[in-house]
Amino acid sequence: MTTDPAPATGTLTWRTLWDETSLVTGRPQARWLCEEASGAFGPEFLEVVAQPATERCVAHLDSMLARVRQGEPLQYVLGHWSFRRLDLLVDQRVLIPRPETELVVEVALGCARQAALEHADRPLQLADLGTGSGAIGLSLATELPRGLAEVWLTDVSAEALDVARANTAGLGMAGTAVRFGHGSWFVALPPTLRGQLAVVVSNPPYIAHDDERVQEAVRAWEPSIALFADDNGLAHVSTLAAGSAEWLRSGGWLVVEIGSGQAAAVVDVLQAAGLADVEVRPDLAGHDRIAIARKR
Ligand SMILES: C[S@@+](CC[C@H](N)C(=O)[O-])C[C@H]1O[C@@H](n2cnc3c(N)ncnc32)[C@H](O)[C@@H]1O
Repeated sequence: MTTDPAPATGTLTWRTLWDETSLVTGRPQARWLCEEASGAFGPEFLEVVAQPATERCVAHLDSMLARVRQGEPLQYVLGHWSFRRLDLLVDQRVLIPRPETELVVEVALGCARQAALEHADRPLQLADLGTGSGAIGLSLATELPRGLAEVWLTDVSAEALDVARANTAGLGMAGTAVRFGHGSWFVALPPTLRGQLAVVVSNPPYIAHDDERVQEAVRAWEPSIALFADDNGLAHVSTLAAGSAEWLRSGGWLVVEIGSGQAAAVVDVLQAAGLADVEVRPDLAGHDRIAIARKR
């Protein structure tokens, strides 16, 4: 509940503001914006919904609405977004975490648990390459049993790593399992990890530069370094495949998010890198989305 001491606006209640905002954004999005502006989230918002808003809260709502009207994605306007069990800080320095990437985490968790059964040494070494907000790696760090693994979060973007660091700071004890590396793919990792990684997981940029299906808001607002890749979108997947053959331990897994329509090409890339047990799994919409391979 808000403790804002600023004067109330008289009769302008949160219900009225919610209704008015809905005309711009749609009802659920309007609720999220009003919750953000009021500082009252979830059931608490319903407790204040009949109360008048303060002038300061209305000004906050107005400034967020102005950004929405400019076409800025709601997630950046709110400044945070939920991903699995996390509420992640997100802004224009990082890709907005997508629901399909939550499935990539699910697969990587399964691989890490299997690695724990096959190897007694602890902690297992896991790497989330191209971590952005930290969505994948921080989910691994929070959802795996404490002490089981160290999770390396890397990115070529120093700005993105700053966001991942800020998100790690909110994790408490789980954050102590997290390590950071700045640089391009495997170059960001300490050389001592070569041949030691139990799982490499990545959601690399995989969109071809000329792909016309990319939404205008995505192109305009999200960092292009997080989206696009050469070689018809496959350049970074190729680098990850070749690097994994070198940096994974025997039996280690590579889990990589891919674009729908890339499955056959990605399978070729993974096999050409010498990786085994290659398979592609669909997302909830039925699109090929997650490629998995194992070092022999
Ligand atoms: C599609 S985003 C994924 C972000 C986050 N992992 C997620 O799933 O929401 C790709 C990320 O890869 C990073 N990236 C791009 N090129 C890279 C490179 N050469 N080496 C390491 N990271 C790179 C981008 O900065 C971006 O954060």
